[in-house]
Amino acid sequence: MISRSECQARDERDPLAPLRHQFYLPEGLIYLDGNSLGALPLAVSECLRTTLEREWGSDLIGSWNAHDWIGLPERLGNMIAPLIGAASGQVIVADSVSVNLFKLLSAGLNLKPGRTTVLSTTDNFPTDLYMAQGLAEMLGDQRCVLQTVGRTELVDGINETTAIVLLTHVDFRSGRMFDMSELTRAAQQRGALVLWDLSHSVGAVPLTLDADRVDMAVGCGYKYLNGGPGAPAFLYLAERHHIEARQPLAGWMGHADPFAFSPDYTQAPAMQGFLTGTPPVLAYRALEAALAVWGSVSIQQVRRKSVELAELFVALVDETSTLDELELRSPRHAADRGSHVAFAHPSGYSIMQALIDRKVVGDFREPDLLRYGFAPLYVRYVDVWDAVAVLRDVIETRIYEAPRYSVRGAVT
Ligand SMILES: Cc1ncc(COP(=O)(O)O)c(C=O)c1O
Repeated sequence: MISRSECQARDERDPLAPLRHQFYLPEGLIYLDGNSLGALPLAVSECLRTTLEREWGSDLIGSWNAHDWIGLPERLGNMIAPLIGAASGQVIVADSVSVNLFKLLSAGLNLKPGRTTVLSTTDNFPTDLYMAQGLAEMLGDQRCVLQTVGRTELVDGINETTAIVLLTHVDFRSGRMFDMSELTRAAQQRGALVLWDLSHSVGAVPLTLDADRVDMAVGCGYKYLNGGPGAPAFLYLAERHHIEARQPLAGWMGHADPFAFSPDYTQAPAMQGFLTGTPPVLAYRALEAALAVWGSVSIQQVRRKSVELAELFVALVDETSTLDELELRSPRHAADRGSHVAFAHPSGYSIMQALIDRKVVGDFREPDLLRYGFAPLYVRYVDVWDAVAVLRDVIETRIYEAPRYSVRGAVT
């Protein structure tokens, strides 16, 4: 049996432990949902105050130049680049993951004339599929067709019609992780491009996009990057595609010379051309402050702790006989998982509500999944022990059967 004091001892030895003090975390709350919305870094509050009072408040419009607001998309892109194994100049921060998918899917189809299929998995995150469906509807099936297959049929599904293989690296339900290097190679050997969604990977799993010769990628700013609710997303395009790639959302911020106010669109070179409208500066500043933590921490260290936290959670559930009714839906082997684990239970929704009521926050995914995310910058080993103890209590007492725990909110 793993004891609470063993977990406390692990926290004392943990080189990442001091980072927790850089986050605002409510007293007594165990937050295992950083895979949905990262915790608030203290530096973000401070940075936003300065941005509001000094930049927006005092310097007003002059801040675009004086405080380089205009350079934020590129600057933040270059801060994210090392986290995904990309040389600078290939990542830009803009819009949402969904919008960036649209831009890159369209650009990718144009890079592969004669090929029309976007191949993805049936279990991909819905927005990835919806964006491809929307594009297919707009372009017609002469230009774009979405084909979805099961994960095991993926490689065989890539053929001479496949323009883009669109995949989410870490599955949002199970946490199962694709082998990015192997699948990228398989797609490219068959003449297709790859577009990876890194939303559940960036800031949790080491990534090597350049070394794996990935073509395109997108990812979230509000999960493990802690950029705040609705933080801007990012997109990656390998340098070898920069000259040819064209994106369809031709807004003025992506123009080669926006302040010439020319009536005709000329896409800016490289990643700048993937911008569309005015960047929401407050959201960018929040993300910028949140990214500063990566200056003093390595993603390898973070991954090591993420694996240990998830392994601890699974081991504690395994050794508790009253938790037998929970069925692990994530891979058993840590190497096959990202930074969250999922368990199925027919009363998953009510159990999660009862846990949240007892200050253990995870989330629920239809139809029956309890998800727990482990954000190593601020989650402690002892949090995992305490979370499983509360889970055991909720299940043993069947408190979750109380009618109030089955009331559904708009967001689960
Ligand atoms: C894999 C994946 N892609 C995309 C998104 C959301 O994208 P957007 O930034 O457009 O809301 C999520 C959100 O949880 C996600 O898990």
